[in-house]
Amino acid sequence: MDRSSDLIRQAEQTVAEYKDIVNQDKYRLHFHLMPPVGLLNDPNGLIQWEGRYHLFYQWNPFKTAHGAKFWGHYSSSNLVDWKEEKIALAPSEWFEKNGCYSGSAIEDNGKLKLLYTGNVKDEMGNRKTYQCLAESTNGIDFHKKGVVLRLPEGYTAHFRDPKVWKYEEKWYMVIGAQSEQLDGRAVLFSSNDLEEWTIIGDVAGTNLNGLGNFGYMWECPDLFQLEHNDILLVSPQGLKPEGMLYNNVYNTGYFVGRLDYQTGVLEHGEFFELDRGFEFYAPQTTVDNQGRRLLFGWMGVPEQEEDKHPTISHHWIHAMTIPRELLFRDGRIYQQPVKELQNLRKNELTLTDVRIEPEYSFSQLEGSVYELQMHVEEFEAEQLEITIKDSVRLMFNKNEQVFTLERVSLSTGAPEVRQCQLTNLTKLQVFVDTSAIEIFINDGKEIFTARMFPDVDNKRMVFQARDGHVKGSIQKWDF
Ligand code: FRU
Repeated sequence: MDRSSDLIRQAEQTVAEYKDIVNQDKYRLHFHLMPPVGLLNDPNGLIQWEGRYHLFYQWNPFKTAHGAKFWGHYSSSNLVDWKEEKIALAPSEWFEKNGCYSGSAIEDNGKLKLLYTGNVKDEMGNRKTYQCLAESTNGIDFHKKGVVLRLPEGYTAHFRDPKVWKYEEKWYMVIGAQSEQLDGRAVLFSSNDLEEWTIIGDVAGTNLNGLGNFGYMWECPDLFQLEHNDILLVSPQGLKPEGMLYNNVYNTGYFVGRLDYQTGVLEHGEFFELDRGFEFYAPQTTVDNQGRRLLFGWMGVPEQEEDKHPTISHHWIHAMTIPRELLFRDGRIYQQPVKELQNLRKNELTLTDVRIEPEYSFSQLEGSVYELQMHVEEFEAEQLEITIKDSVRLMFNKNEQVFTLERVSLSTGAPEVRQCQLTNLTKLQVFVDTSAIEIFINDGKEIFTARMFPDVDNKRMVFQARDGHVKGSIQKWDF
């Protein structure tokens, strides 16, 4: 048996061995994609190919820790019902022996092609990096074509996560990198055939294009157009917390600008965080046949209390966000849950003329897995608070103009917060899963994504207004 088949067989055995244990976990997710066993991280190779959506993911089947990653594979016709496909890539070859790291997918001449990073550690523990190509004619079985790009001069081996797209008949690829001066960078390449790549130059990075120190490594870049703007999405490492910003160990956000395809330079404005919650990193986008720019993010952050997740005792960790559509409004990205998620709605509850003063809750509002919407019609209070399962609290303070998500810390058990500035609250859309929450504020202007680990029997949802009242309507659907 060849090495790849052998690794795949071992991974499949591990899935089979732990299936029951994973399935018995009370925190197993209902509508978020999670690994069948082991550790899931970045979304990879997101594409709609021949009508079907494909989402690959970084996966260590053998442990709930990072390691030599495989590419796991899910596919779907509607972004809601997902099928677990055969493993797409296993780290079997010399150029990827320590992991088939992150990358992207494109359609070329009827084939589905993957560009990814081969991660290698030599005998001395030194890192090597190779950008690799694999292709498929059926979208399921991948044939590895090997290394297509080696490390260019001027960068350390922290050089990975190719995102490829086509622009005016040419292929372009942006890679996350670290310069020899240890500055985080995104680097642009071009190619006519996906096999021979030419460097164009640095797109953006620490100490470039007017940006100061902005981290020592940039991971998982993505470059695309939204309403005639060029957007660079990137996950920089090494940002220091600044008030409400950059409070996670590593952070993710975007620059809006104009890309010069000749020089590779992106003239850009400031960096905006894409998600203000506790767990969000390394998102990837694609455009589908309805012209929508879709995004999945990893609901996790590297090295951020990963060993404290209670799901580890059931041999799995981490999940994907729900699929989101990106829109561009007033110079910013808005994210909205894809409309297909409405197909999951059951048992609608609609409450109009709700008056929260000082407290509002009743049994029909309880739930374990659901979507909640609230339209605010009158906000005559200092603060609105929504407590979910006695585990997380959503708060909007009108005087301070601050939105807060509070939860119990996974490591200390003490309350911890993530916050953002918000001038007013008009709408909340909240997706609650057994151990995850995603909060879309004011039609997707701000998002908070987090894991939560409540008592499973706790279904409580309580609305409270401090110093006044809040009026509006509430809708809830079981999922
Ligand atoms: C981001 C990342 C990528 C890398 C992958 C390895 O989370 O570190 O840069 O390709 O994960 O799993």
